[in-house]
Amino acid sequence: MTKNLFISFEGGEGVGKTTLLTGLASRLEGRGADVVRTREPGGTPIAEALRNVLLDPRFNEEDASPTTEALILAAARRNHVEQKIDPALKNGNWVLCDRYIDSTRAYQGSRISGSDLEKIEALATGGLLPDLTILLDAEPSDLLERRQQRGQNTDRFERRSIEYHRTVRKRFLNIASAEPHRIVVLNALQTPDELIDAADEIITSTITKVE
Ligand code: TYD
Repeated sequence: MTKNLFISFEGGEGVGKTTLLTGLASRLEGRGADVVRTREPGGTPIAEALRNVLLDPRFNEEDASPTTEALILAAARRNHVEQKIDPALKNGNWVLCDRYIDSTRAYQGSRISGSDLEKIEALATGGLLPDLTILLDAEPSDLLERRQQRGQNTDRFERRSIEYHRTVRKRFLNIASAEPHRIVVLNALQTPDELIDAADEIITSTITKVE
């Protein structure tokens, strides 16, 4: 297998990132890659503990300001980068990460200033950006319907209004158009197999670019 990549998967609630990540990881492993699958917030014991604080349904909007929320996410990310992502990449592993900085830019970015966001991001990542980001995109009301059909519970983030989720979608699309060399947008309403095939092709062309 060729050069190992750091790939993040982004998108709104219920876009199917986890299914895509799992399917792609199996394909890559089938070709001999050593794959580390991980997620944010989370991925290490401390970051998973911070995830539980962030997603605890007992907490409401008034319990944490957007800046507090961004700082907790950043602490989790820094720990994840230091303890897991960076060592795995240095070890030659592929890293497939469910959400990374673009989630902070899209979710917290509409609620805190751009300069705070940049400072927080620099500290959280230490400058580590994914080689490739796959953004799964769909209209939030279509996704909400899919989640309700699956009977999934909702956390503090998911309970926010459909307008908030539309803003998040728009922010993700703007981020993608500002960094077309890193971020590829796929229609999330395709079947899992179609998405895996599309993402696989994108990975092949990314390998050619980075080598
Ligand atoms: P998760 O269960 O991973 O949601 P999903 O299955 O949709 O990926 O929950 C993560 C939640 O945290 C999700 O609502 C988005 C939010 N989040 C942020 O607001 N900022 C971030 O930087 C990250 C990583 C997640």
